[in-house]
Amino acid sequence: MVSQILKEARNYEETEGTQIPADKRPLFHLTPYIGWMNDPNGFSQYNGSYHLFYQYYPYKKKWGPMHWGHAVTKDLLKWEFLPAAIAPDTEPDSGGCFSGSALSMDNGKHLLLYTGVVKLNDMDEDTFLQTQCLAEGDGVDYVKYEGNPVIGMKDIPEGLSKYDFRDPKMWREKDGTYRCVVGGCTNDKKGRILYFRSENAYDWKFVSVLAENDGSLGTMWECPDFFELDGKYVLLTSPQDVRQDKKYNCGNIVVAMIGTFDEETGIFHKETEQLVDAGIDFYATQTLLAEDGRRIMSAWMQNWDSIVHTIRSLRWFGQMVLPRELSVKDGKLIQKPVRELEKMRRNPVIAKDVLVENMVELDGVKGRTIDLTVRIRPESYSSYRKLEIRLASDGNVYTSLIYRPAECTLEFDRSNSGTRRATSHTRKCSVAENNGEIKLRIIMDRYSVEVFVNDGEQTLSNVIYTYQEADRISFVNHNGRALIDVEKYDLSFD
Ligand code: FRU
Repeated sequence: MVSQILKEARNYEETEGTQIPADKRPLFHLTPYIGWMNDPNGFSQYNGSYHLFYQYYPYKKKWGPMHWGHAVTKDLLKWEFLPAAIAPDTEPDSGGCFSGSALSMDNGKHLLLYTGVVKLNDMDEDTFLQTQCLAEGDGVDYVKYEGNPVIGMKDIPEGLSKYDFRDPKMWREKDGTYRCVVGGCTNDKKGRILYFRSENAYDWKFVSVLAENDGSLGTMWECPDFFELDGKYVLLTSPQDVRQDKKYNCGNIVVAMIGTFDEETGIFHKETEQLVDAGIDFYATQTLLAEDGRRIMSAWMQNWDSIVHTIRSLRWFGQMVLPRELSVKDGKLIQKPVRELEKMRRNPVIAKDVLVENMVELDGVKGRTIDLTVRIRPESYSSYRKLEIRLASDGNVYTSLIYRPAECTLEFDRSNSGTRRATSHTRKCSVAENNGEIKLRIIMDRYSVEVFVNDGEQTLSNVIYTYQEADRISFVNHNGRALIDVEKYDLSFD
């Protein structure tokens, strides 16, 4: 039943993946079993566990013919690897199994809907014909549907490309029928989000174009997701090749469009649009609706343009973000670390009204697997211009978070983190004006820093590879006097 190609991947995981010591991975962020990982796929609950699959090439720390890696968890923090789920081993996916989604079905099966790609060899650049395929399984082994593809060339609306048609995200409606959104693109590279319906998840019908790129927001729109949340509809997508403007940085980004939706006509009316994460390493979001009602989001904590930032000594490449609980408030997407994280908190250190003039370090405020909340405000009658928090520091190497109250900006800077790669290591975003006050929740794992600003109004996700002994934290005031409240926990499963 298991193809030779999948068997090989599973054997490789068994012999090589199991050799990676636990402390050479993040503590609570998912990495690939071995080799390369990109987008989260098939994020779902099935038989009492959360399943998260991922775009996967086990044999190198490089993108290659895509498999789906597979992990499960009960708490979204402690991950357990399962054998690779699917491999490029049938005709419609001979070039790779690209991104897709999963659902738990009434017949007890776990159903995967993914993009099968067929590589064309006569082009300079890799070009793939793309269709949507199904595989059905029991949570470990999956069998590809003989009728694949279930959404094929003939279903692509007129004028759209056969080479950019991917990343189906499906869900089930209350009436038991199914929906999916798929990323599409015009032949002149303007992204489209396509909406499909199905009675049974096998026969799909195109309904409408949910959203379209008029040419001002990148090219192809990848990895769409669409759901109702707090009385609004949210469309998430990852536009490629965005040009810098006042609103967005250049490169591949993730945006959320929030608005209203008419299910009858399939028309989505966008009211607001925003960047989802202002950090360096964030792409390809995927959400699930948990059985307890939470809308939880995963994403690749990496970006295509930042993949040069790596180190040789690790045998894996790519991580997922800490899963986040989403909500919508005043037309804005709010993100919070999943509440399960609070169970990992150990050794609280609380300090209030600490005056920061020049440089301050606090007893017990250090570490590389921590949950740290810092509230910053001006000391009365005086103000300050630039307050820096140095993380993962040994005095010489450090990663900075810099708040400039007058400018209302927050900057992340890992240029001094020990990296030797000449790529962009800084990101700056605007934050709410609030009389020089800001609240930052900083979640650090061994190889990452995720920042949640003002209770999730903004986030910045970033990878760092600073050696683990660099664990000091300091607060540096470059000009003036500020007060901080600090609440810090070590994060641990023990
Ligand atoms: C996004 C993406 C998807 C595609 C996958 C291939 O990062 O380009 O559109 O399905 O990666 O690995």
